[in-house]
Amino acid sequence: MHNAIISGTGRYSPERVLTNADFERMVDTSDEWIVTRTGIKERHVLNGSGFWGSDMATSAARSALEDAKLPASDLDAIIIATVTPDYRLPSTATIVQTKLGAGRSAVMDLVAACAGFIYGLSVARAFIVSGMYRHVLVVGVEHLTSITNYDDRNTCVLFGDGAGAVVVSRGNEGDRGRGILSTFLSGDGQYKDLLHIPLGGSRDPLTVENVESAGRHIYMDGREIFKLAVKEMADASEHVLAEAGVTADQIDMVIPHQANSRIIDALTKRLRIAPDHVYVNIERYGNTSSASVPIALDEARRTGKVRKGSTILSVAFGGGLTWGAALYRL
Ligand code: ACO
Repeated sequence: MHNAIISGTGRYSPERVLTNADFERMVDTSDEWIVTRTGIKERHVLNGSGFWGSDMATSAARSALEDAKLPASDLDAIIIATVTPDYRLPSTATIVQTKLGAGRSAVMDLVAACAGFIYGLSVARAFIVSGMYRHVLVVGVEHLTSITNYDDRNTCVLFGDGAGAVVVSRGNEGDRGRGILSTFLSGDGQYKDLLHIPLGGSRDPLTVENVESAGRHIYMDGREIFKLAVKEMADASEHVLAEAGVTADQIDMVIPHQANSRIIDALTKRLRIAPDHVYVNIERYGNTSSASVPIALDEARRTGKVRKGSTILSVAFGGGLTWGAALYRL
């Protein structure tokens, strides 16, 4: 069995920022409600012209490859976790491959909503551990503002755009003890209607009659998801800790999906992890779905909050419902 290590990280956030004050002008909300109920103060958003999800993914990927000191041509596979691909066909991974100049690597998109990056990390690990591949790029990228309903105050204040990337590589002798120690993936499709986009798939395509309706945007029952999220993320975290034989007090940093600061607080209290061992950046990004964990990981690395040897727990929960956790040592 080979060891799968994280050899590089990168991120990209659009320059344009929407603040809570901007939302106060758009819907019936307040900075006070948004901050106390979610922890969000601002989010980065694409401006809708000339730069898309694949461009954000490519920028984050370039930065991760540079960090890993790896030419794009050495990548064996590209996994892009996203629910907002540039096109329904082809995959965003194929577009990113060309933009990176990554030769003829395997290319795939992976749909697991906010848990997409954890799913991608787990798939990459399996490719490396099995000996099938040496270097796999995993990107979480979302252009969520393209599916956000700016008339719905329940959801529009939550989402932002961005991309985060990691290179997962086969470790060598010197990397013993490092790498992805354990992962856990799960989901429950019976809750599919709690978070979905009703229209625009092959079952209910967009038509002249429905194209202006709210059904083309994200619908979310946030209250129900909140209740399920804390329990399932805590269980997933305990699962990866037990499998790796690591205890909660040995975790240097929890880098969770950034959906709501109250979810993160409830989760980490349940795991008995002190706030200074939890990385939270939701106030500056909002919820960027599959991009949130790799953006936070790259930011934590580049600001020295985590470093080589740090033991990190990442855990996420999202539409599907889907959830998962990964325990890794940098
Ligand atoms: N401003 C002011 N009031 C608001 C706003 C707003 N932006 N949004 C909702 N409210 C109101 C509601 O209308 C409601 O009013 P009512 O009591 O008169 O009906 C009240 O605030 C409370 O609403 P709740 O939905 O109960 O608020 P809650 O405390 O649950 O917070 C939130 C809502 C932030 C969405 C929370 O439920 C949450 O974070 N849920 C989990 C989201 C999540 O993790 N999703 C999965 C990942 S996303 C993905 O996969 C793309």
